[in-house]
Amino acid sequence: MLRYPYFCRIHKNFLSCWLESGIFNLGVWPKKIHATAERYNECEAQEETDQTGVEELHRSQDRDSEVMTKLHIPVMVDEVIRCLAPQKGQVFLDMTFGSGGHTRAILQKEPDITLYALDRDPTAHAIAEQLSELYPKQIRAILGQFSQAEALLMKAGVQPGTLDGVLLDLGCSSMQLDTPERGFSLRKDGPLDMRMDGDRYPDMPTAADVVNALDQQALASILRTYGEEKHAKKIASAIVQARSLYPITRTQQLASIVAGAFPPSALYARKDLLQRSTHIATKTFQAFRIFVNNELNELYTGLETAQKFLRPGGHLVALSFHSLEDRIIKRFLLGISMTERFNLSARQKVIQKSQLDSDQENKKHVSIGKASLTWKLMHKKVLTPEDKDVQDNPRGRSAKLRAAIKL
Ligand SMILES: C[S@@+](CC[C@H](N)C(=O)[O-])C[C@H]1O[C@@H](n2cnc3c(N)ncnc32)[C@H](O)[C@@H]1O
Repeated sequence: MLRYPYFCRIHKNFLSCWLESGIFNLGVWPKKIHATAERYNECEAQEETDQTGVEELHRSQDRDSEVMTKLHIPVMVDEVIRCLAPQKGQVFLDMTFGSGGHTRAILQKEPDITLYALDRDPTAHAIAEQLSELYPKQIRAILGQFSQAEALLMKAGVQPGTLDGVLLDLGCSSMQLDTPERGFSLRKDGPLDMRMDGDRYPDMPTAADVVNALDQQALASILRTYGEEKHAKKIASAIVQARSLYPITRTQQLASIVAGAFPPSALYARKDLLQRSTHIATKTFQAFRIFVNNELNELYTGLETAQKFLRPGGHLVALSFHSLEDRIIKRFLLGISMTERFNLSARQKVIQKSQLDSDQENKKHVSIGKASLTWKLMHKKVLTPEDKDVQDNPRGRSAKLRAAIKL
Protein backbone atom coordinates (compact mmCIF):
# COMPACT_ATOMS: atom_id res chain seq x y z
CA MET A 1 0.00 0.00 0.00
CA LEU A 2 1.11 3.51 -0.81
CA ARG A 3 -0.47 4.86 2.27
CA TYR A 4 2.31 4.56 4.87
CA PRO A 5 5.24 5.76 2.76
CA TYR A 6 3.19 8.68 1.49
CA PHE A 7 2.07 9.54 4.95
CA CYS A 8 5.52 9.26 6.52
CA ARG A 9 7.08 11.48 3.87
CA ILE A 10 4.50 14.20 4.25
CA HIS A 11 4.35 14.11 8.03
CA LYS A 12 8.07 13.92 8.51
CA ASN A 13 8.52 16.98 6.34
CA PHE A 14 5.89 18.73 8.30
CA LEU A 15 7.24 17.78 11.64
CA SER A 16 10.80 18.79 10.96
CA CYS A 17 9.78 22.22 9.69
CA TRP A 18 7.36 22.66 12.52
CA LEU A 19 9.82 21.66 15.21
CA GLU A 20 12.26 24.23 13.90
CA SER A 21 9.81 27.05 13.55
CA GLY A 22 7.21 26.44 16.22
CA ILE A 23 3.63 25.33 16.10
CA PHE A 24 2.25 28.68 15.08
CA ASN A 25 4.20 28.84 11.88
CA LEU A 26 0.94 28.21 10.18
CA GLY A 27 2.04 29.61 6.87
CA VAL A 28 4.73 26.97 6.48
CA TRP A 29 2.68 24.09 7.74
CA PRO A 30 0.07 23.97 5.01
CA LYS A 31 2.73 24.01 2.30
CA LYS A 32 4.42 21.06 3.90
CA ILE A 33 1.57 18.82 4.89
CA HIS A 34 -2.11 19.23 4.85
CA ALA A 35 -2.03 21.36 1.79
CA THR A 36 -1.60 17.88 0.63
CA ALA A 37 -3.48 19.92 -1.87
CA GLU A 38 -2.61 17.57 -4.65
CA ARG A 39 -4.01 14.79 -2.58
CA TYR A 40 -7.18 16.71 -1.93
CA ASN A 41 -7.54 17.52 -5.59
CA GLU A 42 -7.29 13.85 -6.42
CA CYS A 43 -9.94 13.26 -3.80
CA GLU A 44 -12.14 16.01 -5.23
CA ALA A 45 -12.05 14.27 -8.59
CA GLN A 46 -12.87 10.99 -6.97
CA GLU A 47 -15.63 12.64 -5.00
CA GLU A 48 -17.62 13.37 -8.14
CA THR A 49 -17.81 9.66 -8.78
CA ASP A 50 -18.49 8.95 -5.12
CA GLN A 51 -21.66 11.01 -5.04
CA THR A 52 -23.95 8.02 -5.29
CA GLY A 53 -22.19 6.43 -2.34
CA VAL A 54 -22.59 9.60 -0.32
CA GLU A 55 -26.27 9.81 -1.21
CA GLU A 56 -26.69 6.23 -0.06
CA LEU A 57 -24.95 7.11 3.17
CA HIS A 58 -27.15 10.15 3.65
CA ARG A 59 -30.29 8.12 3.07
CA SER A 60 -29.37 5.64 5.75
CA GLN A 61 -28.33 8.47 8.05
CA ASP A 62 -31.62 10.28 7.55
CA ARG A 63 -33.33 7.74 9.73
CA ASP A 64 -30.98 8.50 12.57
CA SER A 65 -30.49 12.18 12.14
CA GLU A 66 -33.53 13.16 14.13
CA VAL A 67 -32.13 11.24 17.06
CA MET A 68 -28.69 12.68 16.47
CA THR A 69 -29.87 16.27 16.54
CA LYS A 70 -30.85 15.63 20.11
CA LEU A 71 -27.40 14.43 21.00
CA HIS A 72 -25.45 17.66 20.62
CA ILE A 73 -26.51 20.39 23.00
CA PRO A 74 -25.33 23.72 21.61
CA VAL A 75 -22.89 25.53 23.87
CA MET A 76 -23.44 29.08 25.20
CA VAL A 77 -26.36 29.43 22.84
CA ASP A 78 -27.80 32.61 24.45
CA GLU A 79 -24.46 34.37 24.25
CA VAL A 80 -23.98 33.27 20.62
CA ILE A 81 -27.38 34.70 19.66
CA ARG A 82 -26.74 37.90 21.57
CA CYS A 83 -23.41 38.39 19.77
CA LEU A 84 -24.69 37.52 16.31
CA ALA A 85 -27.84 39.60 16.88
CA PRO A 86 -29.65 38.26 13.78
CA GLN A 87 -31.99 40.67 12.03
CA LYS A 88 -34.53 40.36 9.27
CA GLY A 89 -33.01 39.85 5.83
CA GLN A 90 -29.47 39.18 7.08
CA VAL A 91 -27.11 36.50 5.78
CA PHE A 92 -25.12 34.18 8.08
CA LEU A 93 -22.54 31.44 7.81
CA ASP A 94 -22.47 28.67 10.40
CA MET A 95 -19.04 27.17 9.63
CA THR A 96 -19.54 24.28 12.06
CA PHE A 97 -23.12 23.15 11.56
CA GLY A 98 -22.78 19.86 13.53
CA SER A 99 -26.32 18.83 14.34
CA GLY A 100 -27.54 22.36 13.83
CA GLY A 101 -28.19 23.42 17.42
CA HIS A 102 -26.85 26.94 16.93
CA THR A 103 -28.34 27.25 13.46
CA ARG A 104 -31.78 26.37 14.83
CA ALA A 105 -31.40 28.90 17.63
CA ILE A 106 -30.47 31.61 15.11
CA LEU A 107 -33.50 30.70 12.99
CA GLN A 108 -35.70 30.72 16.04
CA LYS A 109 -34.55 34.20 16.94
CA GLU A 110 -35.04 35.52 13.40
CA PRO A 111 -36.68 33.26 10.82
CA ASP A 112 -36.33 35.72 7.97
CA ILE A 113 -32.64 35.14 7.25
CA THR A 114 -30.41 33.19 4.88
CA LEU A 115 -27.94 30.85 6.56
CA TYR A 116 -25.14 28.90 4.88
CA ALA A 117 -24.55 25.74 6.92
CA LEU A 118 -21.03 24.36 6.41
CA ASP A 119 -19.56 21.17 7.85
CA ARG A 120 -16.83 18.81 6.71
CA ASP A 121 -18.60 15.80 8.16
CA PRO A 122 -21.02 14.10 5.72
CA THR A 123 -23.24 13.04 8.63
CA ALA A 124 -23.61 16.65 9.76
CA HIS A 125 -24.13 17.71 6.15
CA ALA A 126 -26.97 15.21 5.80
CA ILE A 127 -28.68 16.87 8.76
CA ALA A 128 -28.08 20.31 7.25
CA GLU A 129 -29.66 19.11 4.02
CA GLN A 130 -32.64 17.79 5.92
CA LEU A 131 -33.03 21.12 7.66
CA SER A 132 -32.73 22.91 4.33
CA GLU A 133 -35.70 20.88 3.10
CA LEU A 134 -37.69 22.11 6.06
CA TYR A 135 -36.45 25.69 5.57
CA PRO A 136 -35.78 25.91 1.82
CA LYS A 137 -35.71 29.70 1.80
CA GLN A 138 -33.39 30.02 4.76
CA ILE A 139 -30.86 27.17 4.86
CA ARG A 140 -28.19 26.32 2.27
CA ALA A 141 -26.20 23.23 3.23
CA ILE A 142 -22.53 23.14 2.19
CA LEU A 143 -20.24 20.14 2.57
CA GLY A 144 -16.58 20.98 3.05
CA GLN A 145 -13.72 22.10 5.24
CA PHE A 146 -12.85 25.61 6.40
CA SER A 147 -9.98 25.53 3.94
CA GLN A 148 -12.42 24.85 1.12
CA ALA A 149 -15.04 27.34 2.32
CA GLU A 150 -13.89 30.28 0.22
CA ALA A 151 -14.30 28.37 -3.05
CA LEU A 152 -17.53 26.75 -1.89
CA LEU A 153 -19.06 30.08 -0.88
CA MET A 154 -18.12 31.66 -4.19
CA LYS A 155 -19.65 28.67 -5.97
CA ALA A 156 -22.82 29.18 -3.94
CA GLY A 157 -22.93 32.79 -5.13
CA VAL A 158 -21.77 34.46 -1.92
CA GLN A 159 -19.58 37.48 -2.56
CA PRO A 160 -16.75 38.52 -0.22
CA GLY A 161 -17.70 41.33 2.15
CA THR A 162 -21.40 40.46 2.23
CA LEU A 163 -22.06 38.28 5.28
CA ASP A 164 -23.66 39.75 8.41
CA GLY A 165 -22.43 37.06 10.78
CA VAL A 166 -20.15 34.03 10.97
CA LEU A 167 -20.13 31.38 13.68
CA LEU A 168 -17.36 28.93 14.49
CA ASP A 169 -18.06 26.32 17.18
CA LEU A 170 -14.87 24.31 17.13
CA GLY A 171 -13.91 20.74 17.89
CA CYS A 172 -16.02 17.62 17.68
CA SER A 173 -19.75 17.25 17.93
CA SER A 174 -21.34 14.85 20.38
CA MET A 175 -22.50 12.88 17.33
CA GLN A 176 -18.85 12.29 16.43
CA LEU A 177 -17.67 11.62 19.97
CA ASP A 178 -20.50 9.27 20.81
CA THR A 179 -20.29 7.08 17.71
CA PRO A 180 -17.65 4.44 18.54
CA GLU A 181 -17.10 3.60 14.86
CA ARG A 182 -15.73 7.10 14.32
CA GLY A 183 -12.89 6.33 16.70
CA PHE A 184 -12.92 9.55 18.74
CA SER A 185 -13.92 8.05 22.05
CA LEU A 186 -11.54 6.61 24.57
CA ARG A 187 -14.41 5.18 26.57
CA LYS A 188 -16.17 3.28 23.80
CA ASP A 189 -14.13 0.89 21.74
CA GLY A 190 -13.89 1.49 18.02
CA PRO A 191 -11.39 1.65 15.15
CA LEU A 192 -8.69 4.24 15.85
CA ASP A 193 -9.84 6.62 13.12
CA MET A 194 -10.72 10.15 14.38
CA ARG A 195 -11.16 11.66 10.91
CA MET A 196 -14.09 14.04 10.66
CA ASP A 197 -14.45 13.41 6.94
CA GLY A 198 -12.80 10.04 6.46
CA ASP A 199 -15.69 8.90 4.27
CA ARG A 200 -14.87 11.64 1.78
CA TYR A 201 -11.11 11.24 1.91
CA PRO A 202 -10.47 7.56 2.56
CA ASP A 203 -6.75 7.92 1.82
CA MET A 204 -6.14 10.56 4.42
CA PRO A 205 -4.24 9.19 7.44
CA THR A 206 -6.24 7.92 10.39
CA ALA A 207 -5.13 8.19 14.01
CA ALA A 208 -4.01 4.56 13.71
CA ASP A 209 -1.78 5.51 10.77
CA VAL A 210 -0.19 8.27 12.83
CA VAL A 211 0.28 6.12 15.91
CA ASN A 212 1.78 3.22 13.96
CA ALA A 213 3.92 5.15 11.49
CA LEU A 214 5.63 8.10 13.17
CA ASP A 215 8.84 7.78 15.12
CA GLN A 216 8.95 8.26 18.87
CA GLN A 217 10.19 11.84 18.74
CA ALA A 218 7.47 12.88 16.31
CA LEU A 219 4.79 11.21 18.44
CA ALA A 220 6.08 12.98 21.53
CA SER A 221 6.00 16.29 19.67
CA ILE A 222 2.38 15.77 18.66
CA LEU A 223 1.41 14.87 22.22
CA ARG A 224 3.27 17.82 23.70
CA THR A 225 2.05 20.37 21.19
CA TYR A 226 -1.53 19.40 20.48
CA GLY A 227 -2.30 17.70 23.79
CA GLU A 228 -0.14 19.93 26.00
CA GLU A 229 0.78 16.61 27.55
CA LYS A 230 3.50 16.79 30.22
CA HIS A 231 4.31 13.11 29.90
CA ALA A 232 4.62 13.15 26.12
CA LYS A 233 7.94 11.27 26.01
CA LYS A 234 6.75 8.54 28.33
CA ILE A 235 3.53 8.00 26.35
CA ALA A 236 5.32 8.06 23.01
CA SER A 237 7.76 5.47 24.29
CA ALA A 238 4.91 3.24 25.49
CA ILE A 239 3.23 3.51 22.08
CA VAL A 240 6.41 2.59 20.22
CA GLN A 241 7.04 -0.36 22.53
CA ALA A 242 3.48 -1.65 22.19
CA ARG A 243 3.35 -1.35 18.43
CA SER A 244 6.55 -3.37 18.08
CA LEU A 245 4.44 -6.30 19.30
CA TYR A 246 1.20 -5.62 17.43
CA PRO A 247 -0.30 -2.78 15.41
CA ILE A 248 -2.45 -0.35 17.36
CA THR A 249 -5.84 -0.27 15.68
CA ARG A 250 -8.50 0.28 18.36
CA THR A 251 -9.33 3.19 20.63
CA GLN A 252 -9.38 1.06 23.77
CA GLN A 253 -6.04 -0.40 22.82
CA LEU A 254 -4.50 3.07 22.69
CA ALA A 255 -6.20 4.06 25.95
CA SER A 256 -4.80 0.92 27.66
CA ILE A 257 -1.30 1.49 26.28
CA VAL A 258 -1.29 5.04 27.65
CA ALA A 259 -2.75 3.85 30.94
CA GLY A 260 -0.09 1.13 31.15
CA ALA A 261 2.64 3.75 31.19
CA PHE A 262 1.41 5.08 34.55
CA PRO A 263 0.80 3.61 37.99
CA PRO A 264 -2.89 2.73 38.62
CA SER A 265 -3.23 5.65 41.03
CA ALA A 266 -2.47 8.10 38.18
CA LEU A 267 -5.16 6.83 35.81
CA TYR A 268 -7.90 9.15 36.99
CA ALA A 269 -5.80 11.57 39.02
CA ARG A 270 -6.30 14.44 36.58
CA LYS A 271 -9.32 16.67 37.06
CA ASP A 272 -11.32 18.66 34.57
CA LEU A 273 -12.74 22.13 35.20
CA LEU A 274 -15.66 20.60 37.07
CA GLN A 275 -13.17 18.76 39.28
CA ARG A 276 -14.30 15.47 37.73
CA SER A 277 -11.67 12.79 37.22
CA THR A 278 -10.51 12.41 33.65
CA HIS A 279 -8.72 9.47 32.08
CA ILE A 280 -4.96 9.85 31.71
CA ALA A 281 -5.28 9.27 27.92
CA THR A 282 -7.68 12.20 27.35
CA LYS A 283 -4.95 14.57 26.24
CA THR A 284 -3.42 11.90 24.01
CA PHE A 285 -6.72 11.49 22.21
CA GLN A 286 -7.09 15.26 21.84
CA ALA A 287 -3.60 15.54 20.39
CA PHE A 288 -4.09 12.87 17.73
CA ARG A 289 -7.54 14.20 16.81
CA ILE A 290 -6.20 17.71 16.27
CA PHE A 291 -3.29 16.38 14.26
CA VAL A 292 -5.32 14.01 12.09
CA ASN A 293 -7.86 16.69 11.20
CA ASN A 294 -5.29 19.44 10.82
CA GLU A 295 -7.54 21.42 13.13
CA LEU A 296 -5.34 24.39 14.00
CA ASN A 297 -4.40 25.12 10.45
CA GLU A 298 -8.01 24.71 9.40
CA LEU A 299 -9.02 27.15 12.12
CA TYR A 300 -6.62 29.80 10.90
CA THR A 301 -7.86 29.43 7.32
CA GLY A 302 -11.44 29.52 8.57
CA LEU A 303 -10.79 32.81 10.37
CA GLU A 304 -9.26 34.29 7.24
CA THR A 305 -12.30 33.22 5.22
CA ALA A 306 -14.66 34.68 7.82
CA GLN A 307 -12.76 37.95 7.67
CA LYS A 308 -12.93 37.99 3.90
CA PHE A 309 -16.65 37.27 3.63
CA LEU A 310 -17.94 39.41 6.49
CA ARG A 311 -19.09 42.89 5.59
CA PRO A 312 -17.74 45.81 7.61
CA GLY A 313 -19.90 45.80 10.74
CA GLY A 314 -20.46 42.02 10.41
CA HIS A 315 -20.13 39.88 13.54
CA LEU A 316 -17.76 36.97 14.11
CA VAL A 317 -18.40 34.57 17.01
CA ALA A 318 -15.86 31.87 17.79
CA LEU A 319 -16.28 29.18 20.44
CA SER A 320 -13.18 27.19 21.31
CA PHE A 321 -12.51 24.38 23.73
CA HIS A 322 -8.81 24.37 24.47
CA SER A 323 -6.07 26.91 24.85
CA LEU A 324 -4.41 26.20 21.49
CA GLU A 325 -7.56 27.17 19.60
CA ASP A 326 -8.31 30.12 21.81
CA ARG A 327 -4.78 31.45 21.38
CA ILE A 328 -5.10 31.37 17.59
CA ILE A 329 -8.47 33.17 17.70
CA LYS A 330 -7.22 35.78 20.13
CA ARG A 331 -4.11 36.46 18.09
CA PHE A 332 -6.08 36.63 14.88
CA LEU A 333 -8.52 39.17 16.30
CA LEU A 334 -5.78 41.25 17.90
CA GLY A 335 -3.60 41.11 14.81
CA ILE A 336 -0.71 39.40 16.59
CA SER A 337 1.49 37.34 14.30
CA MET A 338 1.02 33.59 14.66
CA THR A 339 4.78 33.15 14.54
CA GLU A 340 5.36 35.17 17.69
CA ARG A 341 5.99 33.03 20.75
CA PHE A 342 3.28 33.64 23.31
CA ASN A 343 5.36 33.92 26.45
CA LEU A 344 7.96 36.47 25.36
CA SER A 345 9.08 39.41 27.45
CA ALA A 346 8.72 42.87 25.86
CA ARG A 347 12.45 42.84 24.98
CA GLN A 348 12.22 39.40 23.38
CA LYS A 349 9.24 40.59 21.36
CA VAL A 350 11.26 43.46 19.91
CA ILE A 351 14.11 41.09 19.03
CA GLN A 352 11.77 38.59 17.46
CA LYS A 353 9.97 41.28 15.48
CA SER A 354 13.22 42.52 13.97
CA GLN A 355 14.24 38.96 13.17
CA LEU A 356 10.93 38.33 11.47
CA ASP A 357 11.13 41.58 9.52
CA SER A 358 14.50 40.63 8.16
CA ASP A 359 13.35 37.17 7.17
CA GLN A 360 11.79 37.26 3.72
CA GLU A 361 10.16 33.88 4.28
CA ASN A 362 8.24 35.24 7.21
CA LYS A 363 7.21 38.57 5.68
CA LYS A 364 3.85 37.07 4.76
CA HIS A 365 3.03 36.11 8.35
CA VAL A 366 3.93 39.52 9.68
CA SER A 367 1.67 41.14 7.15
CA ILE A 368 -1.06 38.65 8.01
CA GLY A 369 -0.76 39.89 11.59
CA LYS A 370 -1.00 43.53 10.55
CA ALA A 371 -3.84 42.94 8.14
CA SER A 372 -5.79 41.33 10.94
CA LEU A 373 -6.08 44.61 12.83
CA THR A 374 -9.56 44.94 11.46
CA TRP A 375 -11.58 43.78 14.42
CA LYS A 376 -13.30 45.47 17.33
CA LEU A 377 -13.70 43.04 20.20
CA MET A 378 -17.21 42.90 21.64
CA HIS A 379 -15.98 42.00 25.13
CA LYS A 380 -12.84 42.93 27.01
CA LYS A 381 -12.50 39.42 28.37
CA VAL A 382 -13.23 36.06 26.89
CA LEU A 383 -16.73 34.77 27.80
CA THR A 384 -17.15 31.42 29.53
CA PRO A 385 -20.32 29.41 30.27
CA GLU A 386 -22.47 30.17 33.30
CA ASP A 387 -22.43 27.54 36.06
CA LYS A 388 -25.99 26.58 35.19
CA ASP A 389 -25.06 25.96 31.55
CA VAL A 390 -22.18 23.76 32.63
CA GLN A 391 -24.48 21.71 34.87
CA ASP A 392 -26.91 21.25 31.96
CA ASN A 393 -24.19 20.53 29.41
CA PRO A 394 -20.90 19.43 31.01
CA ARG A 395 -19.27 19.04 27.58
CA GLY A 396 -19.33 22.80 27.22
CA ARG A 397 -17.42 23.34 30.45
CA SER A 398 -14.19 24.47 28.81
CA ALA A 399 -15.84 26.71 26.21
CA LYS A 400 -14.40 30.15 25.51
CA LEU A 401 -16.35 32.60 23.42
CA ARG A 402 -14.77 35.50 21.59
CA ALA A 403 -16.86 37.82 19.47
CA ALA A 404 -15.75 40.70 17.29
CA ILE A 405 -17.08 43.19 14.78
CA LYS A 406 -15.28 43.57 11.48
CA LEU A 407 -14.21 47.19 11.06
C1 LIG B 1 -18.79 21.31 18.10
S1 LIG B 1 -19.48 20.78 16.61
C2 LIG B 1 -20.64 22.03 16.21
C3 LIG B 1 -21.95 21.83 16.85
C4 LIG B 1 -23.02 22.79 16.37
N1 LIG B 1 -22.70 24.15 16.68
C5 LIG B 1 -24.35 22.42 16.95
O1 LIG B 1 -24.93 23.21 17.70
O2 LIG B 1 -24.84 21.33 16.67
C6 LIG B 1 -18.20 21.12 15.47
C7 LIG B 1 -18.55 20.72 14.05
O3 LIG B 1 -17.60 21.38 13.22
C8 LIG B 1 -17.20 20.53 12.21
N2 LIG B 1 -15.85 20.93 11.83
C9 LIG B 1 -14.74 20.88 12.59
N3 LIG B 1 -13.67 21.32 11.89
C10 LIG B 1 -14.14 21.66 10.68
C11 LIG B 1 -13.51 22.17 9.50
N4 LIG B 1 -12.21 22.39 9.47
N5 LIG B 1 -14.28 22.41 8.44
C12 LIG B 1 -15.62 22.20 8.46
N6 LIG B 1 -16.26 21.68 9.54
C13 LIG B 1 -15.54 21.43 10.63
C14 LIG B 1 -17.24 19.14 12.81
O4 LIG B 1 -17.41 18.17 11.82
C15 LIG B 1 -18.43 19.26 13.76
O5 LIG B 1 -19.59 18.77 13.15
